[in-house]
Amino acid sequence: MPKAFVTRRIPEPGLAILREVAEVKVWEEELPPPREVLLKEVADCDALVPLLTDRVDGELLDRAPHLKVVANYAVGYDNIDVPACTARGVLVTNTPGVLTETTADLAFALILATARRLVEADKFLRAGKWKTWGPMLLLGQDVYGATLGLVGLGRIGAAVARRARGFNMKILYYSRHRQEALEKELGVEYVSFDELLRRSDFISIHVPLTAETRHLFNAEAFAKMKPTAVLVNTARGPIVDEAALYAALKTGRIAAAGLDVMDPEPPRPDNPLLTLDNAILLPHIGSASIATRTRMATMAAENAAAVLRGELPPNLVNPEAWEKRRR
Ligand code: DGY
Repeated sequence: MPKAFVTRRIPEPGLAILREVAEVKVWEEELPPPREVLLKEVADCDALVPLLTDRVDGELLDRAPHLKVVANYAVGYDNIDVPACTARGVLVTNTPGVLTETTADLAFALILATARRLVEADKFLRAGKWKTWGPMLLLGQDVYGATLGLVGLGRIGAAVARRARGFNMKILYYSRHRQEALEKELGVEYVSFDELLRRSDFISIHVPLTAETRHLFNAEAFAKMKPTAVLVNTARGPIVDEAALYAALKTGRIAAAGLDVMDPEPPRPDNPLLTLDNAILLPHIGSASIATRTRMATMAAENAAAVLRGELPPNLVNPEAWEKRRR
């Protein structure tokens, strides 16, 4: 029977699917498997189900002569060296679609929570500082009717736009490829990155991490934003230059930030962002609903199982590798 290694305990329905086609080993610890363990485990592995915390690169692939599929338990796959997999005929799959609405909910929750200073207000009350109703107490910004700038209009960006329409927001977007059909459907306006920075009250990031998007939000970008602007990131931490963000938040160059992702994760204890009241920081929980994490598990497992059965997996990232395997 083929062997599959799952790098953390994922919801049981996913493991059940995998067990039908493979002998399954699960890394049961809370923390990811140390690199040496991962390199050892893949040696006789036919399928690997990694998380975004596991680096899959040429070194690992060279230790995994039987590996046929890397079925990532995430939609983002910046933890995987896809060209290195393709070169070796290893299929890479991800979990698109199933986490769209859940992640969009969290992005919108961060927009509301930063605008209305929810975390700060909760801490204020618990600290016993609330003496009476105050006309100037914890004033925030209105979300209703404000301008939202979406960086990226893929599945999650579009789902955030649908929510924003309910709040009567003016919606701008910037992406590498203009999407005219979606523009009409969602009532969104395509603008340059600079214009988005200048006009938005809230900016929400929905692009993958690539060489082009790394530190897209740097000191230069913050300098162009409104002093009342709020930045929300539910995509990947390194898209934001955290040192520049800290400076922008500390000096009032921008008003607030809501981050579900950081660089690195978790943040180091001396990360100065941890000291700021105008930053809400979450431990990468964008897709963390029971239903969505379960669906991600079954999807990753279905992808891996399909490959082990010799079938085309439903969510293949590198079709060139499939061609290569068939040759
Ligand atoms: C992803 O899927 O890429 C998220 O970051 C985790 O669900």
